[in-house]
Amino acid sequence: MTTPLRIGIAGLGTVGVGVVKIIRQKANLLAARTGRPIQIIAVSARSKDKDRGVSLDGYAWEDDPVALAKRDDIDVFVELMGGSDGPAKAATEAAIATGKDVVTANKALLAHHGQALAEAAEKAGKIIRFEAAVAGGIPVIKSLTEGLAGNEITRVMGVMNGTCNYILTRMQSAGLSYDEVFEEANQLGYLEADPNLDVGGIDAGHKLALLSSIAYGTQVDFDGVELQGIGAITIEDIHSAADMGYRIKLLGVAQMTGRGLEQRMTPCLVPDTSPLGQLEGGTNMVVLEGDAVEQIVLRGPGAGEGPTASAVMGDVLDIARGIRPYTFGQPAAGLAKSKPATSKAPAPYYLRFGLQDKPGALAKVATALGEAGISIDRMRQYGHADTSAPVLIVTHKTSQNDLSSALEAMKTLNVLTDEPVALRIEDL
Ligand code: NAP
Ligand code: HSE
Repeated sequence: MTTPLRIGIAGLGTVGVGVVKIIRQKANLLAARTGRPIQIIAVSARSKDKDRGVSLDGYAWEDDPVALAKRDDIDVFVELMGGSDGPAKAATEAAIATGKDVVTANKALLAHHGQALAEAAEKAGKIIRFEAAVAGGIPVIKSLTEGLAGNEITRVMGVMNGTCNYILTRMQSAGLSYDEVFEEANQLGYLEADPNLDVGGIDAGHKLALLSSIAYGTQVDFDGVELQGIGAITIEDIHSAADMGYRIKLLGVAQMTGRGLEQRMTPCLVPDTSPLGQLEGGTNMVVLEGDAVEQIVLRGPGAGEGPTASAVMGDVLDIARGIRPYTFGQPAAGLAKSKPATSKAPAPYYLRFGLQDKPGALAKVATALGEAGISIDRMRQYGHADTSAPVLIVTHKTSQNDLSSALEAMKTLNVLTDEPVALRIEDL
């Protein structure tokens, strides 16, 4: 056996404990696969006395993750604390400055500081790996940086927040309101400490920004991601979309266009028969499209102890084997500054609104759409007990600008009984 790979782990929560368990339980397998033992030298967390359900015997303890990162008896610093700043950033910087490779599951850290950290690591001849940061157990970073490296990536798309997918699919299957399922998700422990990271689309937006950087050779640009959460989705939208043959997903889409880099993490409709439409519960799915490969679909668990630790270990084992890709697939200094798209690609839209049930009301709405250059593909008006008729319209492809003008015009007609809901239908 050759020299062991010595690691220090900061963060012994869900993911950190998963990593310790794999290293303890599969020592022989890991050594056989890499040709060298993987040794935990030291660990750090906030509370030394907490029972974590796994033995930490034989590992040095550091109260301060920065001190752990600086130890001269480790080769790899594994950051599993979380947070875009604070100890995660300080310890990662310290690890790079003192000559360690870094493995992290922290999408927030990299979405905000990925460029600076990658440049620092490359200057020091070190690498940062982050498979676990995007879509948990799905090896999507490896697929993009390695397996698909010969492609021009034409589109990256996916459901990358399991909590949102759980909420949306549970609303549909149980017929429950958003608030009821949100509470259920809370009881089940699915939500991040700040739930807005999940339901506000921020966590998934972080992940999309990281994938975009690799796919398009651009610096990570989280601020350039159009973000919209799922908090405004009602059970009526879920049912109406289903009636028209769609499912609502918090969908991430990144594509390089002639108008710049388009990055969106917003609720969208997808055909109910498509792989994305059929994705249930907390599972993640990432669709990668390249000029040579055409399309691949990756599906799997996006969170949890085992799946996330599995991804962390993939990175650790690569380092043990001497596999050292650039953090974002090419030298960080050569990544172009991203130019956010000036407008979105045209798409069909789903519109839902209440309409006064009186002669000419629907004609006025159709005229407003027509005058904005929007053609109606399908329309449905539902039976109703009161004076407000629920109406659904699916448009042909239109631009966001034309749609916004039509919605503004519709509001001035004095025939709507509520605020219209407009959701993009994604072309799959
Ligand atoms: P967690 O269960 O909350 O664990 C966080 C760990 O970090 C705890 O052990 C905590 O110590 C330790 N910690 C926090 N602040 C610290 C500090 N100042 N100094 C030392 N230790 C500190 O979090 P997690 O779910 O394992 O997530 C870890 C990372 O993985 C995050 O970046 C997260 O976004 C990412 N991730 C998680 C999942 C998942 O399914 N959980 C999936 C993908 C990615 P104590 O235990 O003593 O409090
Ligand atoms: N909160 C995330 C999710 C898991 O629900 O998918 C961590 O990435």
